Amino acid sequence: EKGTYPHFMLKEIDEQPFVMRKIIQEYQDENDEIKLDEQVRQAMLETDRVYIIAAGTSFHAGLVGKQFLENIANVPVEVHIASEFSYNMPLLSEKPLFVFISQSGETADSRSVLVKIKELGHPSLTLTNVPGSTLSREADYTLHLHAGPEIAVASTKAYTAQIAVLAILAVDTAKAKRLSFDFNPLQELAIVANAMEGLTDQKEIIEEIARDFFTETRNAFYIGRGLDYFVVQEASLKLKEISYIQAEGFAGGELKHGTIALIEDGTPVIALATQESVNLSIRGNVQEVAARGAKTCVISMKGLEQEGDTLVLPHVHELLTPLVSVVPMQLLAYYAALHRDCDVDKPRNLAKSVTVE
Ligand code: F6R
Repeated sequence: EKGTYPHFMLKEIDEQPFVMRKIIQEYQDENDEIKLDEQVRQAMLETDRVYIIAAGTSFHAGLVGKQFLENIANVPVEVHIASEFSYNMPLLSEKPLFVFISQSGETADSRSVLVKIKELGHPSLTLTNVPGSTLSREADYTLHLHAGPEIAVASTKAYTAQIAVLAILAVDTAKAKRLSFDFNPLQELAIVANAMEGLTDQKEIIEEIARDFFTETRNAFYIGRGLDYFVVQEASLKLKEISYIQAEGFAGGELKHGTIALIEDGTPVIALATQESVNLSIRGNVQEVAARGAKTCVISMKGLEQEGDTLVLPHVHELLTPLVSVVPMQLLAYYAALHRDCDVDKPRNLAKSVTVE
């Protein structure tokens, strides 16, 4: 039930700190170490390449997960859009492991890939929020997201739960491989939970940005580099699906290769700046669009902020920034939809789970 909340989406955005804490609890043993299904651990050790298969928001979580698995666990990863996989099927490695990411566990596009790879005899793991779901029953192994029921059509807490579980999986694999790394995901996720909570106090600032940038506009751009690039893709999907504003998430450096032609006086451009290695270059991109008339806003992270930034997010481990930076993006979409009188929880033309191909 919604309780005192006007919409499920807002409730589910606010639940994210609790979801992080629930995941910590569920994936922690009595020695504060990671607790994970031994079979999943073995499958991760045996594979020479992970193929992540997902759609929509879950695909965007997969893009972040690839960085975790490659950087932390040294496992090569490809991320594929489920509906394209069968037609543009890549050459498979010798020991592929297929990882399906799906909130509902019912997405037909993903299921058809699962059917196909099972015929080929490859192992599969599903990350889902619904343990008894089709993708969960039909895959060899399942990891549960523990986000609680997600009712709003626009996915929010499932995305952050997917990223959190992928981080735990990556570190567990690294440990099983005896790789050295400096990162306790359970501790870092606790810091993330607090950071998320801090943001719920900043709703008024975010509502103001949404009012200022999105009430009238027909289109909008989000830009980022590195991990921020993946988050801005999710940010633009959120805005499109519930506010019907045409939006795109771009890699900051790619704008000048064509898309910058669309920037006019007043075009909204929201930039994310949470990654140290690209902090100066993304700010250069903001100046490029501002010089062409764009209305710009920078959301940065503590330690990387510059004068004039609209919002400064609390500091968390650099790899986990998507968990925190997506929250203002979700809220921006929510308030944009609200101010434009859209049906936030049930946007037109969309269903919560897409069971047709
Ligand atoms: C976006 C959204 C969709 C889903 C996609 C996959 O907010 O909800 O893009 O993420 O349809 O659904 P699942 O994760 O259930 O497979």
